[in-house]
Amino acid sequence: RRSPERTINGPSEESSLKLRLRPRRLRRSEPIRALVRETQLSLDDLALPFFVCPGSGVRREVQSMPGVFNLSLDEFAREVASAREMGIRAILLFGLPETKDEVGSGAYDPDGIVQRAIREARKIASDLIIIADTCLCEYTSHGHCGVVRDGAVMNDETLELLARTAVSQAAAGADIVAPSAMMDGQVAAIREALDQSGFAETAIMSYAVKYASAFYGPFREAAASAPAFGDRRTYQMDPPNAREALREAELDYAEGADILMVKPATPYLDIVRAVRERFDVPVAAYHVSGEYAMLKAAAAKGWIDEERALLEILTGIRRAGADIIITYCAREAARLLARR
Ligand code: PBG
Repeated sequence: RRSPERTINGPSEESSLKLRLRPRRLRRSEPIRALVRETQLSLDDLALPFFVCPGSGVRREVQSMPGVFNLSLDEFAREVASAREMGIRAILLFGLPETKDEVGSGAYDPDGIVQRAIREARKIASDLIIIADTCLCEYTSHGHCGVVRDGAVMNDETLELLARTAVSQAAAGADIVAPSAMMDGQVAAIREALDQSGFAETAIMSYAVKYASAFYGPFREAAASAPAFGDRRTYQMDPPNAREALREAELDYAEGADILMVKPATPYLDIVRAVRERFDVPVAAYHVSGEYAMLKAAAAKGWIDEERALLEILTGIRRAGADIIITYCAREAARLLARR
């Protein structure tokens, strides 16, 4: 009996059909499929997020994100070392501060939780790419990404605080700062502050196109950053808009963003593709908490083959045009890629 997967030189079928064009010729075996494979997934392109918190020995699993933890610095250090060992080369840091206040001062405290985590990570692996999320929402008592006055998030006042946050992260040793507050002018404000403070080499990966998405739900549990009132729709983008995404990307590009990010990833692959085609800077896509939670939940129910689905999702994001993928699944991806 002929196996369904024939080798390149295997027997061919007698046929009376005059079919000259047969795409199946290039699907006959794994080696030939690999030969013509258009999109490659590489660990070099993945970044793994972490949530660091005060204390020691803390390893608190996020309920809606199985396999993702709030980690105190000691536990974080262990995890970073093991991720690095697995071949993960970039990490993205979020912080849960000891206390929160109206102006999110924990975000720009030179000795804040993320600043300390950056220094810790640097000790572990000097060649690790350390990316710091630059936002206020994890640090403000009201949970918004900026300064609030009379119930409104103030743009220009917030810029100064975001710039201070970025400078403190760069000073701690971050290679890349990633502003995610969606304030107008944040990239320009941060670029200027970094340059003036002697951090001309620190890159900016801007969350240029960040939609007001339902898929951030689990993250807000992980980072304890849900807004106490209202929502983020006055600063994050309206999901139906694509032209506006290009306008946001254009502004950040002009303001000096080194990398443009689209977020979330899978519901916005058209936007990833459009940004890729329009701008000649690297494009990142954030496979966010809700995308992770869906995959984990379906897998836990036995309704989906988690490993295959994960590779398919990440490959799809790459195929859409993302150069970089931020994903909570980077470790699983590392395991799967090592096995191939
Ligand atoms: C901070 C920030 C958020 C995410 C990344 N940076 C939350 C939000 O905007 O509410 C979401 C990431 C995820 O869902 O995995 N502003």
